[in-house]
Amino acid sequence: MRVQTLYYKNHVLYVLDQLQLPRYKKYIVCRDWRQVAQVIKKMNIRGAPAIGVAAAFGIALAAREQNTSDRQRFLDQIYIASKALVSTRPTAVNLAWAIKRMLDYLETIKSRDIKGIKTFLEKKAQQVLAEDVLINKKMAVQGEKLIPGNARVLTHCNAGALATAGYGTALGVIREAHKRGKKITVWVDETRPYLQGARLTAWELKEEKIPFYLISDNMAGHFISRGEVDCIITGADRVAANGDTANKIGTYSLAVLAKENCIPFYIAAPCSTIDLHIKSGSEIPIEERSAEEVTCIAGKRIAPPGIKVKNPAFDVTPHKYITAIITEKGIVKKPYLKNLKKLKKSL
Ligand code: MRU
Repeated sequence: MRVQTLYYKNHVLYVLDQLQLPRYKKYIVCRDWRQVAQVIKKMNIRGAPAIGVAAAFGIALAAREQNTSDRQRFLDQIYIASKALVSTRPTAVNLAWAIKRMLDYLETIKSRDIKGIKTFLEKKAQQVLAEDVLINKKMAVQGEKLIPGNARVLTHCNAGALATAGYGTALGVIREAHKRGKKITVWVDETRPYLQGARLTAWELKEEKIPFYLISDNMAGHFISRGEVDCIITGADRVAANGDTANKIGTYSLAVLAKENCIPFYIAAPCSTIDLHIKSGSEIPIEERSAEEVTCIAGKRIAPPGIKVKNPAFDVTPHKYITAIITEKGIVKKPYLKNLKKLKKSL
């Protein structure tokens, strides 16, 4: 797909405004790190790998926007920006991963002149972006082998080009299978409350001319129980050491449905989403978002005022429900504790 989720040109980050899709294709211009933090928090850009890449540019901008010649002051401002950026969204580990990568790199170049540091950080962020696209393509090639010809694949949320720097994770696998001539049909969950499926995945699939049906989330069980879904594939925001996986709210119910109906449930995620510091899913922080996302649809209130609302953005799927985790380095199967550790060691 030719659309660019984000790009950096002449010291400015351009972010495709996903809140305007599918109606308008408009880019938000970010000239400083605060604007980057804002677009991540407001979900103009979303999806674990995409927010990681955006944050990497946030660090580059935190350096670029300064006029000081005082090295310590210059570095301190970057550290302040990194802390603020990492706190924008807590669940997706790719955000912290990308920022750490930038800071580790800064450590190796911090004795250079300030002008040089600014240029090197911009180059590093460009590298993080380019690598993300390559990683997704490798993951797609690995995962495509799991998808039978004529498969009817169900996906949840948006794990496509828009959720990454390009190509996508779960949708990348589907895209690759389609490209190789497999007659794929996709079931697209609308993904309430934020409607990433209806707004974004449906848009991407339509652009690519990949056949699909849009369904509301509560229809998934109906079609699965009738044997009309051959497998489920989703992305991930964080995979714990034991394989428990946080992804968009509603993923857990799909995994249970898959098990009950004897169809495979796959996760597609880059190695950067695997967090071995977290032993199990219960330790993964779950972002709670605003009540308005549940009480309103497209700005229109649908629920009575003054009511109590819960809005966790993610849930955790226990590893026992996950048939395999597709990464750019290969397909990981049970026992996850052993095999994820082995995978990370090989990086
Ligand atoms: O709240 P979002 O839209 O950022 O949530 C996105 C997801 O849950 C995706 O499935 C996940 O980040 C993987 S995207 C390649």
